[in-house]
Amino acid sequence: QISSIGSTVGTLEKLSQTDKELLRKYSKVYFLSENYRPAQLTSIDKDYLYLKEDAFANSQVMPYLDRLLKAARSDGIELLIASAFRSFEAQASLKSEYKVIYGAGTANQFSADQGYSEHQLGTAMDFTTPTIGGLFSKFPTDPAYKWLQDNAYKYGFTLSYPENNAYYKFEPWHWRFVGVSLATDLHREGKYFYDLDQREIDTYLIKLFD
Ligand code: DAL
Ligand code: ZN
Repeated sequence: QISSIGSTVGTLEKLSQTDKELLRKYSKVYFLSENYRPAQLTSIDKDYLYLKEDAFANSQVMPYLDRLLKAARSDGIELLIASAFRSFEAQASLKSEYKVIYGAGTANQFSADQGYSEHQLGTAMDFTTPTIGGLFSKFPTDPAYKWLQDNAYKYGFTLSYPENNAYYKFEPWHWRFVGVSLATDLHREGKYFYDLDQREIDTYLIKLFD
């Protein structure tokens, strides 16, 4: 009994130290406070950036991302990161730029309002490659997409917006870290993060960084 109480206390402690926002649905479902910032951000190695500007990821996710990028390279897939952490303010100005260029209706189909973007978590990444560059329409048929579909789950990443999802247009380049356990189950069952109930997703919090 004592050992089972000990393990319950251990579990509760681990849960209390896990950022619960990291497994919440955003994308028009839940709103993330404008004050939310990941506890710690780490800058992404320049070698892996598509643009020259600094880019940051949630520090706890960085080791998984790093392993994913290295594994892709060793399989001959040169993944680059086109966008990583975006603050509430950065998302707000990006979205208003898109609204000016494309109009609100179109912008809402591919860009989240501030507070609803997974990018504010520092755990969602937009990938590209030197061949694709900024031409994201090439992504669905590129070997990089096939590689991500076959391998990203091993590093805890899952595709947020598959074809015909309820929130945005198909985004084959946008992958979110949800932990190896959840990503592996989703991959095995052919499901996506937003297919699950929030209550079911929350059962994976304890295993997020295993
Ligand atoms: N492009 C995705 C939906 C975002 O803005 O977070
Ligand atoms: Zn994205």
